Amino acid sequence: MSKFTVKWGILATGGIAETFARDLWPNPECRGVKDIEHKVVAAASSSSAKRAQDFLKEVRGVEGAKAYGSYEELVKDENVDIIYIATPHSHHYQNAMLCLEAGKNVLCEKAFTTNAPQLEALIKKAREKKVFLMEAVWTRYFPLSIYVRDIITSGKIGPVSRTFADLSMHMLPEKTFEDTHRMVNPDLAGGALLDLGIYALTWVFQTLYTTQSDPKPPTVLSTMRKYKLGTDEQTSMLLTFPPTSSRGEAHGIATTGMRTSADPDGKASAGPAIRVQGETGEIQIYHPAFRPTRTKLVLADGTVEDKEWPQPGPGEGSGWKNGFGGTFQPEGEGQGMFWEADECAFALKEGRKEGKYESLEESLVIMKVMDQVREQNGLKYPEKIETLEYPVKL
Ligand SMILES: NC(=O)c1ccc[n+]([C@@H]2O[C@H](COP(=O)([O-])OP(=O)(O)OC[C@H]3O[C@@H](n4cnc5c(N)ncnc54)[C@H](OP(=O)(O)O)[C@@H]3O)[C@@H](O)[C@H]2O)c1
Repeated sequence: MSKFTVKWGILATGGIAETFARDLWPNPECRGVKDIEHKVVAAASSSSAKRAQDFLKEVRGVEGAKAYGSYEELVKDENVDIIYIATPHSHHYQNAMLCLEAGKNVLCEKAFTTNAPQLEALIKKAREKKVFLMEAVWTRYFPLSIYVRDIITSGKIGPVSRTFADLSMHMLPEKTFEDTHRMVNPDLAGGALLDLGIYALTWVFQTLYTTQSDPKPPTVLSTMRKYKLGTDEQTSMLLTFPPTSSRGEAHGIATTGMRTSADPDGKASAGPAIRVQGETGEIQIYHPAFRPTRTKLVLADGTVEDKEWPQPGPGEGSGWKNGFGGTFQPEGEGQGMFWEADECAFALKEGRKEGKYESLEESLVIMKVMDQVREQNGLKYPEKIETLEYPVKL
């Protein structure tokens, strides 16, 4: 049987764009996924076609792929089925609207947009154009995340009443980032919340919201420590989820920051970064919240199930490596971004317009929580990146 091939266009040529494009190369069969395959058929840079060509040289299996010097050219390419957007958060609204207006399916990096009204406008446009739209919260598609959600819905740890989740990374901003860097720059929607905090929120949501048949949006209380540029360097959130048909009220404690670490010695001595607590046990997930590879199930009856979740790949001897930010996984081990790409492929194959493990409605609820957290703490970005106007040249 011939496989369903998804033809990808990559919009932006930065760090994560390269990681994602590389992860599309291993044959999906090496992770037990049949019937689909991925192909990068085009990439675009906002600066020059040469930059897009250089980008493609870093990726395997892209022979014949087109290199464009503008995003506008990419969205006109009829050979492209779906566009992966990998610009800073500040640009997602403008870039995604460009793709949707052109009738393209879209996988957009987190945070989806700068604010909830922008996401609402994108969802409306995607529905109007009848195309697929999904937030690239890759972690949700890992087998590890499916296992955790299954544990919760199976009732093994009883009704869950609390989740603690931290994604803090020790990267003292004044030493690590120039003031123009997207992690701290207000013009690029910088700060810990939208970049790292969203993963702490992902764990709170996928354990207290996604797992429920009748989930309800939480209320939120928060506090924020600001960096000298006005963006947040540390944010703590307390979410209260109303009762559902399978549990009572539940609390989510989501924290993020750039001055401390969820795993200070890199050996998990500080314990798990995430704890999902039920009445008869808990499930723990170890740092980092965005790419965890270890879980521990601890039940009140003494059962302990410690599991490792290495990312599959073409294996040793393949000469292939992937990673992010200068850190590479061992030869032949995948980064894990292919799971979300596979979900896009299955959605396109089946004619679905949303991802299976994070609906657009849920992405929107999370975006609304982040809006409230920013409002409670007076973090506003420049109007040109908060606006609903389109098109705006950034
Ligand atoms: N899933 C993950 O694990 C993960 C990890 C890191 C980042 N991310 C997300 O991916 C997005 C990009 O992050 P990144 O680390 O890849 O950023 P990056 O290395 O700075 O790359 C961003 C790219 O966006 C394009 N761009 C367009 N206008 C820009 C502007 N005004 N300033 C800066 N770049 C501009 C540039 O490529 P061209 O102009 O050449 O197109 C640039 O290379 C963010 O939303 C981030 O949250 C996700």
